[in-house]
Amino acid sequence: QSTIYRAGTLGRRPVVPADFAELERRARRVSSAKAWAYVAGGAGEGRTMRRNRAAFDRWAIEPRMAAGTVGRDLRVDLLGTRLPSPLLLAPVGAGALMGKDSDLAIARGAAATGTPYVFSNQGCNPMEEAAAAMGDTPRWFQLYWSSDERLVDSLIARAERIGAGALVVTLDTTVLGWRPQDLNLGSLPFATGLGIAQYTSDPVFQQIVAERTGLPRDRPAVTLGAIRALLAMSRNHPGSFWANLRSPTPRASVETFLDIYSNPGLSWEHLATLKQRTRLPVVLKGILTEKDARRAFEIGVDAVVVSNHGGRQVDNAVASLDALVEIRAALGPEPTLIFDSGIRTGADVFTALALGADAVLLGRPHLYGFALAGAHGVAEVIRNVVAELDLTMALTGVRSIAEITSDLLREQPLSV
Ligand code: FNR
Repeated sequence: QSTIYRAGTLGRRPVVPADFAELERRARRVSSAKAWAYVAGGAGEGRTMRRNRAAFDRWAIEPRMAAGTVGRDLRVDLLGTRLPSPLLLAPVGAGALMGKDSDLAIARGAAATGTPYVFSNQGCNPMEEAAAAMGDTPRWFQLYWSSDERLVDSLIARAERIGAGALVVTLDTTVLGWRPQDLNLGSLPFATGLGIAQYTSDPVFQQIVAERTGLPRDRPAVTLGAIRALLAMSRNHPGSFWANLRSPTPRASVETFLDIYSNPGLSWEHLATLKQRTRLPVVLKGILTEKDARRAFEIGVDAVVVSNHGGRQVDNAVASLDALVEIRAALGPEPTLIFDSGIRTGADVFTALALGADAVLLGRPHLYGFALAGAHGVAEVIRNVVAELDLTMALTGVRSIAEITSDLLREQPLSV
């Protein structure tokens, strides 16, 4: 934090706004209407997004004076890895809506601060390339459970090969949420086409497309380049994406993707096979109730992410922060709980940690940093959030993340 203030004193201009409201405003200004609807939008009437934020406004932090907080240590051990802070970047699909090679830039920005990035299964660059952009910084992989089990195993094997620190299986998107703004603008084909890189780069996916089309298996059925070219052709003509997809192979590829990227039949029986299928720590993302959290730990997973997908799936769902409080109270201090949905500032991170999170994922804010200033923007958003967390610790009398407890909060709705 003092580094940030000193840079200001020396006349260095920040790369991105230091407050979320302005960050959001400027990111909106540089985005197309379609990109903005997809990234900033939520499910239905947007009530889950509003609840996520309102839940933070119910808790007040209690500053504590003269506690001698020099030498603060923000590091945490998470699933066997030492991290510089309890912050990770959430998996985001279709980030290329906001700029070229989004996952490479976000990976670089994360790595510049030693912050792990969770690569999305719907990412815009193959995970091998994003991993190469991160050097030694931890990276995780997020899986959507395909309806083709061969693809599940192939993606897990690739995650192991890129040295992923954990496998995150997202449970809340077996079907896509009701997103009226995207439906109105016809933007889903773009998002779909952009988020296909993990598939076109997968040999098993190529084999599945070949099986469906009867084409030979010795060369890729479709390349990411072909899909991108189609998207570029369709950009100025809403609705023409599918028309341009006349050529049978890319069309078969996109259709195959849509058919098999998720499995609406996903059940706890599938999930119970996970621990035998990989040596990576397993994390289930999208847990919102005590019952589901208990089941997750019963089948031996290493952590859960308490999340409602940033309010993008079920409209008027419970706030993720309220779910965190309930789940921590029910399960006790031991199980590893990661939290996301609604984190905007360092004070928010502090509140989530105080309410029982071991670490948090940051979603939209890092994408906005990317939209404004590429990898630098991502790194600066991270530094700002961590700096505010650090100063909040200084002023609440804590020197380590473990000392951030609910004793430092009181329930007091914000009504100003
Ligand atoms: C997401 N999220 C997400 N989650 C996931 O598991 N796989 C994915 O591919 C995506 N894709 C995605 C795209 C975009 C544009 C957004 C904004 C979000 C959800 C994400 O991981 C995280 O749960 C939320 O973004 C957290 O909420 P906030 O921080 O955005 O409020």
